[in-house]
Amino acid sequence: MTQDIFLTGITTTGTPHIGNYVGAIRPSIAASKDASKKNYYFLADFHALAKNEDPDKISQSTLEIAAAWMALGMDTDNSVFYRQSDIPEIPELTWVLTSMTAKGLMNRAHSYKAAVQANVEGGDKDPDKGITMALYSYPILMAADILMFKATKVPVGRDQKQHVEMARDIAQRFNHHYGDVLVLPEPLIDDATAVLSGLDGRKMSKSYNNTIPVFAAEKKLRKLIMKIKTNSLEPGEPKEIAGNTLYDMYNAFATQEETAEVAQLYKDGIAWGAMKQKLFEYINDHIAPARQEYERLIADPAIVEAELQKGAARAREVSAPYMDKIRSAIGIRKLG
Ligand code: TRP
Repeated sequence: MTQDIFLTGITTTGTPHIGNYVGAIRPSIAASKDASKKNYYFLADFHALAKNEDPDKISQSTLEIAAAWMALGMDTDNSVFYRQSDIPEIPELTWVLTSMTAKGLMNRAHSYKAAVQANVEGGDKDPDKGITMALYSYPILMAADILMFKATKVPVGRDQKQHVEMARDIAQRFNHHYGDVLVLPEPLIDDATAVLSGLDGRKMSKSYNNTIPVFAAEKKLRKLIMKIKTNSLEPGEPKEIAGNTLYDMYNAFATQEETAEVAQLYKDGIAWGAMKQKLFEYINDHIAPARQEYERLIADPAIVEAELQKGAARAREVSAPYMDKIRSAIGIRKLG
């Protein structure tokens, strides 16, 4: 059996929050250090364009996400860490794949359908209002990201599973037409990773505006944790751990033993205020060393840029010759 190749992308919108950290960043960083695995991680800045973000926001988000992954310990020697837009073969492959993608397949994409539905429910006359072609064909760009590096396993959240399956469908159709050139990927969904709730108790997500940034300054971190919604149980009254945001967050950072101690404190009726203070101290201690490194990188973006250039050079060692092969397969060739 040939070795698996793992690849995952992070869209450059917003700043990393602790839900991202626990669900995606932490497991990816652990995997980046595993010498027995081939890993690609990239900043999907072309994907960020689909929603017409402000240019300065895209660039700031790219810096913040890259600096966060680096500060948290991403191994950029063992794995390949790069920015999508530094790889010219990716948009080139996107066009090639666009000619192999049935329009009907894109019509079925959940993300596009959700955008249409939001328009319809909002009473808009035009169901496609605000929907760019980039949003519509988003899964084709994502397929190019994946197929460009012959990824076999794509770790993603549930919401992205269909996109990876589409990449597989597109690759299959391509291979059927042009011969065995592309490698078929599959999604890798880890049900064991925690999904954290946010300040209001719903899933922590940028779109709900209920997040706690990983590198919020100490004061801000404390303020946000104090805002987490709790119920009206008084100090001294026993409290449930199941589905409790404070408990789940503590559990996501602490050891099993420490978490068991907190479960006991809940039974004993710890006050919510005291639990929030405990959670703040724990997370702050855990994050503080990386926060210092993050601040150093944000203050000196040239360090981050150099790291991304190193990654791009390594990625292009794969993408450039492979793109030549793909061009040749589809009949885009030198004459004579
Ligand atoms: N669309 C993914 C997301 O929003 C990010 C992404 C872009 C990606 N290209 C990818 C993930 C390729 C995995 C593989 O989360």
